Amino acid sequence: MKIGMTYNLKSDWQTSDGDVVDGNAEFDRPETIDDLARILESFGHTVVKIGNVQKLLAQIDRLNVDIVFNIHEGVGDRNRESQVPIILDLYKIPFTGSDALTLGITLDKMVAKQCFIADQIPTPRYFVARNADNLEKLNTIGFPLIVKTMWEGTSKGLSEKSRVEDLAGLKRQVKLIVEQYKQPALVEEFISGTEFTVGVIGNEDPKASPVVQVSINGKTDLGDHFYTFALTQGDNVRYVCPAKISPDLTKKIQDIAVAAYQSVGCRDYGRVDFRVDAKNNPYVLEINPLPSLDRKDVFNLFPQVIGTTFEDTVNHIFNLALKRYGLTDGNSQPAAVSQTGHR
Ligand SMILES: Nc1ncnc2c1ncn2[C@@H]1O[C@H](COP(=O)(O)OP(=O)(O)O)[C@@H](O)[C@H]1O
Ligand SMILES: [Mg+2]
Repeated sequence: MKIGMTYNLKSDWQTSDGDVVDGNAEFDRPETIDDLARILESFGHTVVKIGNVQKLLAQIDRLNVDIVFNIHEGVGDRNRESQVPIILDLYKIPFTGSDALTLGITLDKMVAKQCFIADQIPTPRYFVARNADNLEKLNTIGFPLIVKTMWEGTSKGLSEKSRVEDLAGLKRQVKLIVEQYKQPALVEEFISGTEFTVGVIGNEDPKASPVVQVSINGKTDLGDHFYTFALTQGDNVRYVCPAKISPDLTKKIQDIAVAAYQSVGCRDYGRVDFRVDAKNNPYVLEINPLPSLDRKDVFNLFPQVIGTTFEDTVNHIFNLALKRYGLTDGNSQPAAVSQTGHR
């Protein structure tokens, strides 16, 4: 196959005065793109690195590829991840991963939560604040709360001040999100406890990966600690896989992860983030249909636990996309991802 790759490099972000510090946090390092290209080539394919949506548009009429491996996050508002898929759809070019609608639904965390609620998938109670007025009336939850961006990832906009215990703190953080990140603030009940993330792979019969637990400063019992943007920049966060939790909780989290994936119509692969409270109740924070495929991340961690490799997992995701478009005979071997974490 001739595969085009669409992606954003950190250098796609032109910094200017007044930018937030975490502007390009979600974009990829060139090493990640080179790594993925090498992996796909090792399975016998030819890879053409296209780059961002502008570069895709510039060559769309002479783009001679069978399929696009898309990990483009885009620049802009809540449709930014949908930009590449909608163009590829228009030109009838197959691509890996979720379509424009799913990427839009999930990038706007409130819309994703509305899907979860409709499907009875547990998610923290929330309200949306478009400005810092009338917050005392909007807040039907009480404190503590966490104030997040509505459509960013990689903990953008999150610092220790994002967990608020009173009206003054709530006002301060809503103002920050609205003014600096130029979007509504998503305010949620703060779930004190533990944190997990789970890969999901598949289409007709998606399977959850072994559960990955988040550890901050050597502790998995996070209590009121959470994954701030500053923590994404250092090495104080570790992933523990498989999470040292009961089989019951493992299964509960994996089943909810698959339900969340299906609720928003994900394709091929995704990753679901959870907090679990002191009574072992899991809550879905969000779902990522374009999870990082960097070696430092979760998709390079759980395959080792189930005796497969990152390379085979990437190839499996690619083959799932081919199969959806009828581009293979459908005989590709699934990667070793199982509900229980064992083959
Ligand atoms: N309701 C919540 N209760 C406790 N911690 C939260 C809550 N929502 C988010 N967090 C913390 O903030 C981090 C980032 O939030 P998340 O919704 O996953 O956004 P993103 O990863 O897209 O930035 C989570 O990994 C978690 O540590
Ligand atoms: Mg997250």
